[in-house]
Amino acid sequence: MTLPGYPVSRPRRLRQSPALRRLVAETQLSVSQMVLPLFVRQGKKLRHPVAAMPGVFQMSPDEILREATAAYALGVPAVLLFGIPDKKDAQASGAYAAKGIVQQTVRLLKKELPELLVITDVCLCEYMAHGHCGVVQGGKILNDPSLALLARTAASHAEAGADMVAPSDMMDGRVRAIRAALDEKGFTETPIMSYAAKFASAFYGPFREVAESTPQFGDRHSYQMDAANANEALREVALDIQEGADIVMVKPALAYLDILHRVKTEFGYPTAAYAVSGEYSMIKAAAAQGWIDERAVTLESLLAMRRAGADILITYSAADVARWLKEK
Ligand code: PBG
Repeated sequence: MTLPGYPVSRPRRLRQSPALRRLVAETQLSVSQMVLPLFVRQGKKLRHPVAAMPGVFQMSPDEILREATAAYALGVPAVLLFGIPDKKDAQASGAYAAKGIVQQTVRLLKKELPELLVITDVCLCEYMAHGHCGVVQGGKILNDPSLALLARTAASHAEAGADMVAPSDMMDGRVRAIRAALDEKGFTETPIMSYAAKFASAFYGPFREVAESTPQFGDRHSYQMDAANANEALREVALDIQEGADIVMVKPALAYLDILHRVKTEFGYPTAAYAVSGEYSMIKAAAAQGWIDERAVTLESLLAMRRAGADILITYSAADVARWLKEK
């Protein structure tokens, strides 16, 4: 396309007023796109703050209900639940216990707030004594033996009433294993949102403090992706779609907008961006110093994710964003 050029072309013509700018805005942020992650642990009236993530708490189920009710009232349609069990072991038994912490909380939320979409994170790291996302033997993270545990976990979440399951472990073949387990139990209509392109990222640091899921040895580089790779991310997404993922996720978000864009362009699937703990903490820390405007930077970052191709935004700021969008 050849532009007429200045002085016929004057891009500033369409920037003269708020109404005109809104009229030509190519991308919108809406509360209906937001998913709020929540961390649940056993107890009553528990709201345990997390130093690295101001505004984020480990909460008991009753407090989770309160938090979810408030977010839902603001228009946030969905929460993403992470569990912190009282006991960890080498089989992650807390992950798939019928009365596990996530299963209990899902039941409570679906009973009290049936309209709220309850998505569950499916992983083993919070439940394994060693903190890895799969079964460990001889210092190695074993792929295939982990699949059965993940499938069992996802099925137990569906049995508790979860509206959607979100595997974040990055084992090969887990989407297929989970789809099969759900279908076998009659949960053919339960969607899977897979953490399809999940990178081994230093941006997860603060999360591991909240979720108490820091690996006790080594790191996650043998299962999560290398930050250097983009073509491989597309293959990961293609495989998850082949295996039955209904929604694909890119994680982290802000440092991986190229991946988001390519995933959306290549597959046209419902695509989620996870603005992870480190992204949240950086904004909070700088804002606390008075160096940046928390609201403006958060909204701009989320808008960038939308522009890159995200349909769904998973963010610890979801309730704040809902408030800010109302005020605007
Ligand atoms: C568990 C999991 C992690 C996150 C989501 N699910 C941590 C990890 O992989 O170590 C990170 C979320 C965040 O940083 O906000 N596998």
